[in-house]
Amino acid sequence: MARKSLIIGNWKMNLTHLEAIAVTQRLWYRLNPADFDRADVVIAPPFTCLRTIQTLIMADRMPFGLGAQHVHWEREGAFTGEVSAGMLAKLDVGYVIVGHSERRAMFGETDELARKRVRAVLSAGMTPVVCVGETLSERESGETEMVVTTQLRGALRRLTAEQRASVVVAYEPVWAIGTGRHALPDDAGGVCELLRNTVLAMGGPEAGEAVRILYGGSVNPGNIAAFIAKTHIDGALVGGASLDPDTFAAVVRYWM
Ligand code: PGA
Repeated sequence: MARKSLIIGNWKMNLTHLEAIAVTQRLWYRLNPADFDRADVVIAPPFTCLRTIQTLIMADRMPFGLGAQHVHWEREGAFTGEVSAGMLAKLDVGYVIVGHSERRAMFGETDELARKRVRAVLSAGMTPVVCVGETLSERESGETEMVVTTQLRGALRRLTAEQRASVVVAYEPVWAIGTGRHALPDDAGGVCELLRNTVLAMGGPEAGEAVRILYGGSVNPGNIAAFIAKTHIDGALVGGASLDPDTFAAVVRYWM
């Protein structure tokens, strides 16, 4: 079964909703229908831009997917500052990033909280993008495989095989995020194969075959093709290079 490429732009805490309109429109002008045949292209802006971009892509029939960067696991209630999966689904959000290393490092995200978020996202009919990755010191002490499989197993606990097949996994070595220092494609391909085998062991061969696995960490127009050429890498989670429409369009059109 062929897995369609998936390229997600994670804008992080950048761009107002007005700036987001301009960036989305410029990205749209630079792409053509064949690009969307080859890859699913998703924009994950801050919460404050979601309604604006939803309206824009609906009005102009832009085939972008919409992503959110965070979610709370409860359906509603006294959780000041939080947003529920149901609220995101109502805005046509299709993907939600879970367990990003910035949230793990700065906001107390754990594997157990990631698991709760994964369940909430799936229950609302959206796709979780489960991020895993080792720090530099974990890598230097030879713990990469243990760290990423523990994170993934933690996030996918107590799900059905079908649910496990429907998630997206993003391998993002922490030392490669926002540093301009990307992983070697061979190394990243090897870790992504390990992650696929982990899903396979938890959810069976169909889940292992179906799950889309992305690489993230200083992806740019010059290195994306080498990552996607790897059998077990199905796309990319792109931070800095997704903020400029010219650069992000060049990432999306990686085969040209
Ligand atoms: P980067 O970020 O592309 O700026 O390294 C990737 C990410 O954090 O998802």
